[in-house]
Amino acid sequence: MSAILPPAERLWWKQPIDKLEFIWVAIAFVWSLVMFGMMIWWHIYGNQNLSNETYKTTKEMFAAKAQAVVDQYTVRTETDQQVPVVKPPAGSDIYLIGRLWAWWPIYELEQGKTYKLHLSAMDYMHGFSLQPQNINIQVHPNYEHVVKITPTQSGTYSIVCNEYCGIGHHTMVGRMYVK
Ligand code: CUA
Repeated sequence: MSAILPPAERLWWKQPIDKLEFIWVAIAFVWSLVMFGMMIWWHIYGNQNLSNETYKTTKEMFAAKAQAVVDQYTVRTETDQQVPVVKPPAGSDIYLIGRLWAWWPIYELEQGKTYKLHLSAMDYMHGFSLQPQNINIQVHPNYEHVVKITPTQSGTYSIVCNEYCGIGHHTMVGRMYVK
């Protein structure tokens, strides 16, 4: 038997399965079940991949909802680009926009309070990565991702784009305050 030459018995699938081959197939099958179970286990106990809901939306609808929250709860602006710093009431829905190449706006949240964070993109796919928490969510245009977040530690968090989105990808950073 050779792995290089064509098989002597050309109708190899009509041959009985070898015991050793059967053992390997069985090992691979059991391991695939373990890996499948791990996805569920990791989701519950991994503390990393948050449960989220996704809805269809449009860029215009999402931008309007974000703008409404910004108009109502902006407390100051920051950086040269005059990015609004928004302090919404605890428990409210907050909207974060990803676009070439910025996250908008900056939110200031209260420690221990729960918020519903909505994410969407205005142009291409971006990656919402919250540092140093290691929370990662893909952000797509025309889809609204909703995640419940309860910040447990105060401080300044960085939002980094972790899906390559063009020449300015490495500059696509934002921030979030927890007080
Ligand atoms: Cu946005 Cu990379």
